[in-house]
Amino acid sequence: MAFDPAFLDELRARTPITSVIGRRTKLVRSGRNWKACCPFHGEKTPSFYVYDDHFHCFGCGVHGDVISFVMQSEGRSFPEAVEELATAAGLEMPRMDRTQREAQREARTLGDVLEAVQQAWRLRLHRNEGREGLAYLRGRGLTDETIAAFGLGWSGDGRGGLVAELAAQDITAPLLAQAGLMRVDEHGQPKGELFFNRVTFPIHDRRGRLVSFGGRILGDGQPKYLNGPETAIFSKRRVLFGLDRARAAVRAPRGGGHAAPAPELLVVEGYMDVIALHQAGFTGAVAPLGTALTPEQMEALWQVSSAPVLCFDGDAAGQRAAVKAAETALPLLNVERTLRFCTLPEGEDPDSLLRQRGTAAMAALVEGARPLSEVLFGLLSEGTRDPGPEQRAALRQRLVEAAGLIPDKSLASEYRSTLLDRFFATFRRRPAMSGRGGRGQGAAPAARSLAGVLPVAPDLDAQSVAMERMRILTAILLRHPEVLEEVQDAYCRLDMPPELSALRAVMLDMLADGDGNADASALLEALGARIGEANLSDMRERVLSSHPLPLSAQERDDLMVMDIRQEWWHFYALLNVERFAADIRLDTERMSTGPIDERQWESLRVRLLTLESLRRGGDIPDTQ
Ligand code: UTP
Ligand code: MN
Repeated sequence: MAFDPAFLDELRARTPITSVIGRRTKLVRSGRNWKACCPFHGEKTPSFYVYDDHFHCFGCGVHGDVISFVMQSEGRSFPEAVEELATAAGLEMPRMDRTQREAQREARTLGDVLEAVQQAWRLRLHRNEGREGLAYLRGRGLTDETIAAFGLGWSGDGRGGLVAELAAQDITAPLLAQAGLMRVDEHGQPKGELFFNRVTFPIHDRRGRLVSFGGRILGDGQPKYLNGPETAIFSKRRVLFGLDRARAAVRAPRGGGHAAPAPELLVVEGYMDVIALHQAGFTGAVAPLGTALTPEQMEALWQVSSAPVLCFDGDAAGQRAAVKAAETALPLLNVERTLRFCTLPEGEDPDSLLRQRGTAAMAALVEGARPLSEVLFGLLSEGTRDPGPEQRAALRQRLVEAAGLIPDKSLASEYRSTLLDRFFATFRRRPAMSGRGGRGQGAAPAARSLAGVLPVAPDLDAQSVAMERMRILTAILLRHPEVLEEVQDAYCRLDMPPELSALRAVMLDMLADGDGNADASALLEALGARIGEANLSDMRERVLSSHPLPLSAQERDDLMVMDIRQEWWHFYALLNVERFAADIRLDTERMSTGPIDERQWESLRVRLLTLESLRRGGDIPDTQ
């Protein structure tokens, strides 16, 4: 039994996908979306993402909307799943009437129906009734050749003309409704054509099959563009306008010798942008259909190019769209799939840019597209100027989280270091004015003595040793959260396994929320509460029990915090002596060029002591 698409839309709209999926697996926020451990394959770290209206598992590839979730998780057939959800949503199941059933029996495919409509609309554009539409398209600079190549048409005035014309081909109103070209009333009865007084844009899937239409009003009416609804063969989140042509153009075999390079795969915002770009020779242009790029669309893009170029407006909305695209892309990246970005001059779209400033300006823009790894910092830190400690911590955590969205570990680690390097370079702690001077001289000899530090030779079992050290670092901070403030920058750079980074996230959260100034025992208590809330108490116990320290609460109070800090830096230095030394060198240089505050001085002093004791203990070769 086929359901009326409008009914299914209504059902999906009334059934929040997160509540249905949330009954099966625990969902946690991931940016604007949700993630969870996949209920369809055993996994310990979440790679199952839930978006507005669908889910996707990057681990096992399972994928679908709320209906198919019920089908797959409960082994239901499609009608069973629909019925179950409809009952839960209080929706009555639709019944098919006789004419609908007969129409079905005619068994014309939706594709046939769309093709017949396309034929009719295309011809109308060149008849008397379509002359305004044709003049509009020509007025926007499209040649007759382009208009024909894209199959642009004229919808007519909507007064039943289409139904009458197609009746001769046995295409009935219910069939047109199924194809998404007629509105339906609450009983599923067709009631009027969807498109009228519009120029029409046929939409094809990547293989070139006609799946729906878009239509633009002439002039300024609302809505400016109308797109066909979801149907059995059209899913807006999978289709990109122009992808069939772009794919052919990008992949077309090019002769040897001086053949032109393949065109770039370019993602722009609108139908008219795609068409104008193609006409100007940018034959790799595509556009989503008025929505943000979805993961499915990105997958489709990557099948054509490993680094598509996304063009966004220079305004705030364009930047938000770029952030959204980056966030959607990160969980899907690997070394062979990335994105590039270019930003249009404010107030222009590719169509207007081509007309105002010509092909060369557009070509220069595409030429200057920058890789995601480069633009990500700018996108995520947009609007952050002169941040206080809380904003610093929050932004830094955002950056770490963004990198953490990348499933490929080494790529994630690359992104993390790039982002954090940019962070530290851009948002250095503002040096507090300090009364003590003359530290520059004190530090200069240290800088010289560091010059000879060499990296430790890599151990055979380096990986597990490193893991052990990261566990120790985490255990120390779990016992002494008061040290966190000082070591946070270093700590958050570490590429840690998921269970440790979950604990770290809770700790950094606490700092970001401004609890960092409380005294040691209050901090410890606050941290305990947060770890409990995050359901990480077991994890904390595991980390702590693998590293028992002979310290009772009393002993800890008696001990100078200084020793604990030094201990932390000791294990941190062992993880990467080169980096440890380089950071000290950097801070030392910074000290000689400006005032720094008490805390920074203290931190530097502890780290210098640590370095010294490591060298004396033979942990670092002393080449002096
Ligand atoms: P824009 O509003 O940016 O318009 O919509 P545009 O592409 O520059 O259109 P022109 O140049 O005025 O003709 C970008 C895209 O958003 C979708 C369409 O897919 C459009 O191409 N859109 C826009 C809608 O779906 N509905 C609308 O009402 C407006
Ligand atoms: Mn435009």
